[in-house]
Amino acid sequence: MPVATIEWTDGKLCLIDQTLLPNELRHIECETVEQVWEAIKVLRVRGAPAIGIAAAFGTVLGIWDSDATRYSDFKEELDHVTDYLATSRPTAVNLFWALARMRDTAAAHQELPIPALKDRLLAEAQSIRKEDQEICRAIGRHGAELIQDGMGILTHCNAGGLATADYGTALAVMFTAREQNKKIHVFADETRPLLQGARLTTWELMQAQIDVTLICDSMAAQVMREKRVQCVIVGADRIAANGDTANKIGTYGVAILAKYHQIPFYVAAPTSTFDMTLATGEDIPIEVRSDEEITEPTGKRIAPIGVQVYNPAFDVTPAELIAALITEKGIIYPPFESNLKILFQK
Ligand code: MRU
Repeated sequence: MPVATIEWTDGKLCLIDQTLLPNELRHIECETVEQVWEAIKVLRVRGAPAIGIAAAFGTVLGIWDSDATRYSDFKEELDHVTDYLATSRPTAVNLFWALARMRDTAAAHQELPIPALKDRLLAEAQSIRKEDQEICRAIGRHGAELIQDGMGILTHCNAGGLATADYGTALAVMFTAREQNKKIHVFADETRPLLQGARLTTWELMQAQIDVTLICDSMAAQVMREKRVQCVIVGADRIAANGDTANKIGTYGVAILAKYHQIPFYVAAPTSTFDMTLATGEDIPIEVRSDEEITEPTGKRIAPIGVQVYNPAFDVTPAELIAALITEKGIIYPPFESNLKILFQK
């Protein structure tokens, strides 16, 4: 990323306001946990890993002014802050993973005086951010093994540097392939209704000077039939123990199209995106967002007032449609259930 997506500067969380891209590159500063909650809710910061990182720093902001002197009082405040941040968005498990890590860190250092414990929590949020940068590089390295010179690649939504601390997951594979001098051509689905593909993925790829062509979501089948793409790579918001994968709405349809056209469909995600407590994708909570995202996509109404609308923000791709999961620990092939068990036991 030419500019950092998420940074901690002078006691504030500094974020790129992604709702304004690509027309305006503006940073916002969050000084309160309420501002971080709002930024996650309205997608100023978005993408599973980035949401987790923002929530970790949001936790720090939420407890920073605590005047508790005993751990039990501090813990009560911390639980309140993390419970509040957990209500911002339901699907990306990285949010809950990061909040649990912050609570566990406090519990493991409860003997510290409260000011030192606050510093320790800030250090933990910094570590989550830094680790994510390293994880994205590793995902890129592993995933690039699947990319051959001259390949066309389809992606959906945005799983790039904007969705992580830096470099991305699905886009990390493309950035790395490019660094290895492989020539690739990316087709980016626009990703209705919030257009993360059109607004963010094309922006990132163009800055990296990777060939990218924007298509409407409805054009993916035709692009595959014309043999313009040889694989699909997407990110993930939550992956169940059997490999079922929740990602941006429309991903499931792309996976079905890929299967029909015999094109491998890959999911790139850090291990923090796996929810091994869920046996299948059936129980992944799917966020339903406001009607206006569909009826007034750019502030101008495009559907009759009073029309009924359904706006699920994510869908679940069944594991059987996924050729491989690209993680920082390597590429996982089917059978996912047993191979993921081995991975998470290590
Ligand atoms: O609603 P969003 O923009 O937060 O959805 C993002 C996605 O679905 C991404 O593909 C996913 O979080 C992976 S980001 C590395």
